[in-house]
Amino acid sequence: MNDGSEMVLRGPIKALRPSEYTSALIQALRDEPDRVRGRNVLEIGSGSGVVLAVLGSLGAASVCGIDIEQEAIEAGINLLADLGHDNAEFHLGDMWLPVAGRRFDLIVANLPNSPHPQVPISGRPPNWSAGGYDGRLLVDAFIAALRTHLVPGGRALMTHNSYIGLDQSREAAHANGLSFDVRLSILVYVPEEKLALMTPSIVQAAKGQSLHSFGPYTFGEIHIVELGAPA
Ligand SMILES: C[S@@+](CC[C@H](N)C(=O)[O-])C[C@H]1O[C@@H](n2cnc3c(N)ncnc32)[C@H](O)[C@@H]1O
Repeated sequence: MNDGSEMVLRGPIKALRPSEYTSALIQALRDEPDRVRGRNVLEIGSGSGVVLAVLGSLGAASVCGIDIEQEAIEAGINLLADLGHDNAEFHLGDMWLPVAGRRFDLIVANLPNSPHPQVPISGRPPNWSAGGYDGRLLVDAFIAALRTHLVPGGRALMTHNSYIGLDQSREAAHANGLSFDVRLSILVYVPEEKLALMTPSIVQAAKGQSLHSFGPYTFGEIHIVELGAPA
């Protein structure tokens, strides 16, 4: 936009700093712009709003964000407005509730799925990364209702910690008539504070498999998984 007036963009909100999970999701979306252009898109857990901003820049027809945190909703509204996207809507609410009865072409989610209790971590409230004892609280809720919110042939991309059970998610997807594929895998640094809170039996089982420690530094394998509805 250049109408001669100075455009002042708001700065980043430090508390909502996008994580490496968000980066991986953005990379997967940018790898296939043709599968975004012209699509109606939903993000559950929109946080800073940056994933929806990327989707807007890739030509999504409309973007809709849901988050349980008021600060995130305000951040998303401001970011999309600042970037000139007038096809964005945001809703404060829990998971699927704000979009009951609605379907989308593409649904993305980077929901908390770390296996640790609902406690604040790294200065962020529990809703930022805690997925409960097995890490699956929101992943299971996401998969269970996904098909009823996808158009035929629609798809979803979701971030998924390797150590919370990829096979369990695959089975849940198949049980709901959805395809399930791993699109991208990377290692992300697991801060000491988070590792110490994670369910010990899960950490033990994942050691050397999907959690790799080098001295005091630990990295966890994460995936971007794609779930698809039949056409
Ligand atoms: C790891 S952050 C991801 C944020 C976003 N992708 C970004 O990079 O800015 C997870 C987000 O999910 C939201 N969230 C957690 N529980 C939720 C729920 N039950 N319903 C909707 N959003 C939720 C959190 O408030 C947070 O903004």
